[in-house]
Amino acid sequence: MGFGNTDWFTHDRFGMFIHWGLYALPARHEWVKNRERITDEAYQKYFEHFEPDLYDPVQWARDAKAAGMKYAVITSKHHEGFCLWDSQLTDYKATNTPIGRDLLGEWVEAFRAEGLRIGFYHSVIDWHHPEFPVDRVHPQRDNAEFREATAHRDIRKYADYLHGQTRELLTNYGKIDIIWFDFSYDEKGRDAWQSEALVELVRELQPDIIINDRLDYPESADFVTPEQYQPKEPPTRNGRKVVWEACQTLNGSWGYDRDNLDWKSPELLVRLLVDSVSKGGNLLLNVGPTGRGEFDPRARETLAQLGEWTRLHGRSVYGATSSEFSAPEDCRFTQRGNRLYLHVFSWPMRHIHLAGMAGKVEYAQLLHDASEVRMREGDPHAAAQNTSMAGTEGTLTLELPIQRPDVLVPVIELFLA
Ligand code: GLC
Repeated sequence: MGFGNTDWFTHDRFGMFIHWGLYALPARHEWVKNRERITDEAYQKYFEHFEPDLYDPVQWARDAKAAGMKYAVITSKHHEGFCLWDSQLTDYKATNTPIGRDLLGEWVEAFRAEGLRIGFYHSVIDWHHPEFPVDRVHPQRDNAEFREATAHRDIRKYADYLHGQTRELLTNYGKIDIIWFDFSYDEKGRDAWQSEALVELVRELQPDIIINDRLDYPESADFVTPEQYQPKEPPTRNGRKVVWEACQTLNGSWGYDRDNLDWKSPELLVRLLVDSVSKGGNLLLNVGPTGRGEFDPRARETLAQLGEWTRLHGRSVYGATSSEFSAPEDCRFTQRGNRLYLHVFSWPMRHIHLAGMAGKVEYAQLLHDASEVRMREGDPHAAAQNTSMAGTEGTLTLELPIQRPDVLVPVIELFLA
C-alpha cells in the first residue's frame, strides 16, 4: 500500500462526495455524454448555458458539517472533461462559461473555513480532450468516421495534460488532503496515465496527501474504494487488511439526476455508515448539486436527518473501528477503546443476547439519551418455563424497552469491564 498518513482519515470516517459539472444541466446522470453518444458539438450547449447563479459553497460546507461529515471530495474534472477551475491548459473551464468564476477555488476556501478536510476527485478519463484516444466507453465509440479521423491521437500528449493539470490543482489551492483519481480499464492504465510519475508528482507537491486506488498502480494506493456496494468483510490486499472507503450515492446517480426517484432512506444511509465503520472503513456519501448551484431539497433533508443521528451517536463512529467481538443478528458492533457500540438494525422484542459476553460488560446505556440498559446473566442451568427464559452459559442478555428509540439506528453503548 501507499505512503500517506491515513490516521486522520480512519478517525474521521464520514465524508461528502460532490459531483458537479456540465452534466448537471441535462440532469440525466454524469455519464449522459457516453450513454446518449453525444458529440462535442451537441454537448456544447451545456457549456454555453452553465450559470450556477445560486452557487454558495459556504452553504454546502455548512450542510456537510451539520450532517456530521468531516471531509469532502469534489470533482475538479469528471469524464466529460470540463474543469471547475481556471486551468491554464484548456479553455474548457468554468471561467469561460457564463458564470465566469473559479468555482473550485471558492469551494476550497469555503470548506476549509468550516474545518473540513479537502479532496479532489480528478477524472483521468477525458471525453473532450483532442488527444484522448477513443475507446469502448468514449461517447463516439460507434462513430466510424470520428474514430478514423482521430486515429492519430496520442495518449502521451494527453498524459502530459493530465500531469500538468494535476500540478495546477496541487499547487494553487494550498494543502490538499486527498486526491481521488478515476479510473483505469483495458489499455487505459498505468502506462497510459504514466501512473508512477504521476504519483511521484503528487507526493512531491503534497507530501501529506492520501491517494486512492484507481490508477492501476496498487502499490501507490493509500486506500481502496468499493463503489455502490458494501464489502461483506474488511477488504484485504495480499492477505492484509487495508484502509478503505465505500462511496455511495443518495439515489444511484453521482451527478444531479432530476427524474431519478431511487432515493435511499436516511435510515439506510446511516446503516451504510455504521456498516463501513464496523468493518474498519469509511463512507463517502455523494451529493450532485443542480445547475443553479444548489443541493436538491431532497438531498438537504436527508443530510439534515443524518446530522441529527451523528449529533447523538458520533462517538460510535468517529475514532471507532471494527470490534474484536462478533455482533448478534441484525446488529453491527463498532469499538473505541473499552467502549463497544451495538447498532441495532432491527429492533427486537425485549432482549438481545450477547454470546460469550457474560462478565465482560460493566455498564450499558442507550447512546442517544444515556438511559440505562439493564443486563442479566441467566442461570445456565435454568430451564425455560412459561414467562422465564432458559439460561445459556456465558451469555449476557440486554433488557430493552418495547418502544424502539425514535432515532434512525438505535445504539447501545457497552462499557467493557
Ligand atoms: C465511477 C464512475 C463515476 C463516478 C465514480 C465514483 O467509476 O465513472 O461516474 O464518478 O466512479 O466512484
